[in-house]
Amino acid sequence: MPLFSEEFLEELSQRNDIVDVVSGYVNLTRRSGANQFGLCPFHGEKTPSFAVNSEKQIYHCFGCGKGGSVINFIMEIENLSFPDAVRFLAKRAGMEVPESGHDENRGRRTRMLELNRDAARFFYEQLIAPSGQAGQAYVAQRGITSMVKPFGLGFAPDTWESLTRAMTAKGYTRQELIDAGLARVGKSGSLYDYFRNRLMFPVIDVRGSVIGFSGRILGDGEPKYLNSPDTLVYSKSHSLFALNLAKKSKCGYILLAEGNIDVVSLHQAGFDSAVASLGTSLTGEQARLLARYTSEIVIAYDSDAAGRKASDRAISILQPLDMKIKVLTIPGAKDPDEFIQKNGPQAFRDIIEGSGNQIEYRLAQIQEGLDLSTDQGRVAYLKQSAKLIAALPGSVEREVYGARAAEKASVSKEAFLGEVSRIRKQNASAARKQRNKEASAPLRHAQPQSRALRYENVPSARAEEGVINLLCRFPEQFSDLPLREEDFTSPALGQLYGAITRRLKERKAISMAALGEQFTPEEMALLSGILQHDEITAAASEQAMADYIKRIQKEKDRSAPPEDLRGYAEKMRQTKGYGGNDGK
Ligand code: CTP
Ligand code: MN
Repeated sequence: MPLFSEEFLEELSQRNDIVDVVSGYVNLTRRSGANQFGLCPFHGEKTPSFAVNSEKQIYHCFGCGKGGSVINFIMEIENLSFPDAVRFLAKRAGMEVPESGHDENRGRRTRMLELNRDAARFFYEQLIAPSGQAGQAYVAQRGITSMVKPFGLGFAPDTWESLTRAMTAKGYTRQELIDAGLARVGKSGSLYDYFRNRLMFPVIDVRGSVIGFSGRILGDGEPKYLNSPDTLVYSKSHSLFALNLAKKSKCGYILLAEGNIDVVSLHQAGFDSAVASLGTSLTGEQARLLARYTSEIVIAYDSDAAGRKASDRAISILQPLDMKIKVLTIPGAKDPDEFIQKNGPQAFRDIIEGSGNQIEYRLAQIQEGLDLSTDQGRVAYLKQSAKLIAALPGSVEREVYGARAAEKASVSKEAFLGEVSRIRKQNASAARKQRNKEASAPLRHAQPQSRALRYENVPSARAEEGVINLLCRFPEQFSDLPLREEDFTSPALGQLYGAITRRLKERKAISMAALGEQFTPEEMALLSGILQHDEITAAASEQAMADYIKRIQKEKDRSAPPEDLRGYAEKMRQTKGYGGNDGK
């Protein structure tokens, strides 16, 4: 049941021009036809491949594949659900939101949050009870006993159904426990607790709601952390552990660590702005969430190779958000927790204060393997550092670090910056070529960006995309196509086709806003990518449509079981105009 009326969504879209809205977040620097380009806010890039189309009122990134309507854009960048993004835009345009009141998920969401809170309370009580001795011993061994209360840490007992039983007694249903990711269905059909014999960390959002859990094994073993699955109220890639506490910190930066134990230990040592991502490497969504609370990030990942790699990735995600970034190297310890246990908080504070920013960190990394007393070493340093500096978005930064690197490589600053500008030109032209290639190819990517939408039959899916493209662009030219949703090999494309043809039958315009309520952001991104193409003109569209349909039917015949063939032959005879068996 849609939450908002079509008319309302239409007016909302009209009053929130996508170019205006996006311009509040992205600097649109280049125009090409109806498209304006800027640096994509959703992935790290140095040359713009993020397009906003004022005519179609959609955005689409040729780099990461994100895209959709203005509502999808707000969902993505403000980390909001569809209804909340609608409310956000309504507020922006000074519109009243007609709440129809039957947001069925709202009730379920509230219930799930209550269940999570009760579960957190249950785990906490289990930890402090005499029977929680194993948990207490582990907390004591890690030296974080004083943090049990502020973090609401808990203990999941080493049994199969203590949580399930306790929550059932409180009136929660079987389905509610399963949906919240707290219980699973066993072979016998009865429920068992998902978290067992683990130290429990409730994940609390910035509003103070318990949205999920991480459970750490007591001691060694695999998996070290077990995390709640994504639910109606929890998305790992959009959440950060301890952000509820860190957002109140006055220290001016947020510390990004790897493990939950590191975070707790950092808070105990007085670093009250530590957070961790929840079993994923830092995502764009998490980075944007951070950007709402701070403009400086201090990365304090583990000292091993994996931690270094994760730091590099985090830098490339944070850099486009214009954040100040520091990366700590933690000497003589595997992680912040171990370092602080060994050397105390002051020593850790010294590292934070003494450490350079990410550019210095990367320049130092480049230097590491090179001998700058040789010409060869200097040339290698020059090349790599110029590449690094060419990628910096700000010209002041390029000046400052360019001068520093030039000095290291013993060349003049002018020569160094000359090299930098040469690389920048090269990058820009490569990006332009790539964009042109992408924009003019009949199909840019053989596969959608989202794995969940992967095509099984690419030739058919290409034609299916073509059908959707033409239907949206020239709706008046096509009616009653001899294609049903089931003929599509890609379920997502089939559903889009179904929704679009239904709208056309009802004589409704193809509204991205209305479709956005029904389809996931990934599906909308797929659609926005398809709509970016306008190589096929109105004059050629009928022939192109016939070709697409022929292709879809051919692919279908190829994979159809023989007993179905007669039905198809029959159908094809009826669909004469559109690719019957003409002579093949
Ligand atoms: N991790 C996870 N889920 C979480 C938190 C962390 O899967 N909720 C993963 C991280 O992706 C990383 C590892 O666990 O790979 C980090 O663990 P580590 O820093 O080793 O965790 P600690 O609990 O600090 O472990 P240790 O006591 O060994 O330092
Ligand atoms: Mn650790």
